[in-house]
Amino acid sequence: MAKEKAVKEIEDLPGIGETTAAKLRSSNIDSLEKIAVLSPHELSEVSGISVENAKKAIQVARESTTIEYETGESFYEKRKNIGKISTGSKDLNEMIGGGVETNGITEAYGKFSSGKTQLGFQLAVNVQLPVNKGGLEGNVLFIDTEGTFRPERIKSISDAVNLDSNKVLENIIYVRAKSTEQQILTLERADKLIQEKNIKLIIIDSLTSLFRSEFIGRGALGERQQKLNQHVHRLQTLADKYSLAVYVTNQVMDNPGILFGDPTTPIGGNVLAHAATTRLYLRKSKEERRIIKLVDSPYMPEGECVIKITNNGVKD
Ligand code: GTP
Ligand code: MG
Repeated sequence: MAKEKAVKEIEDLPGIGETTAAKLRSSNIDSLEKIAVLSPHELSEVSGISVENAKKAIQVARESTTIEYETGESFYEKRKNIGKISTGSKDLNEMIGGGVETNGITEAYGKFSSGKTQLGFQLAVNVQLPVNKGGLEGNVLFIDTEGTFRPERIKSISDAVNLDSNKVLENIIYVRAKSTEQQILTLERADKLIQEKNIKLIIIDSLTSLFRSEFIGRGALGERQQKLNQHVHRLQTLADKYSLAVYVTNQVMDNPGILFGDPTTPIGGNVLAHAATTRLYLRKSKEERRIIKLVDSPYMPEGECVIKITNNGVKD
């Protein structure tokens, strides 16, 4: 299976010489992965090469990035080191295989008030607990795109698990993102912060709302999906590189094409469906109760459980 020349850097791609590579790097397009998710049009625009050549370069970038061989044994060894953050509910933990996992993306989608943000708050507190209490003794990067972060809630949830609420708040690095650019840049520049602050959980609440409001109409859909794809790819890279957990929330829309069954579908289409490791669908039930459905998991069966959102946080 020897290739003529191994493609490792962006200048190894056909049609991309040193000058073009430098141009791309100055636009922060510095890896094969980043080129692999561009459209030929976008690549042509930033690099100056023709759309035809861009197509070829993207094709090669895709081929060079997607194939990664690993034995089942080494994968299994790696998985042993995966950390799990307790959700606060025993039933929910069991359903998802012990808790919200590191090295992956957990997505919660559902209508307003279904509990997506509250579950995020609980995880932001619980990740700070010692390992034997369901945490990772790590800190949080919280990207809030909707302005719904509530320190008071964090305080009461912290009190309930006997953590010093002021310390808990200090350990949550909060970013209020008001545009997709801010949201994307926060992740692009997160490496140093993650290492210095021992970040073990990245929360984006919500992942999709800014993308949804900035890219409107059919014409913008392609670009939106492309940007979203790059963004979640970056999330997965950070999750793997630093063994951290990612929790994102997502809105839903009514899909009028579905005549039977539940017409509610999450925003983001295929991009998110493929990127999220674990997908949870949250629904409001009576009073404090919320029904949580496990829609997608790499190894757990589909299932449903009920949690409660109480003054003290998420409970069974
Ligand atoms: P959107 O962001 O609007 O899409 O909804 P969401 O899914 O993020 O909802 P969220 O997690 O914010 O849930 C809001 C619900 O949580 C409220 O309607 C309350 O029922 C419940 N809730 C919020 N704070 C408290 C609290 O202090 N005590 C109790 N018991 N419930 C709370
Ligand atoms: Mg919310």
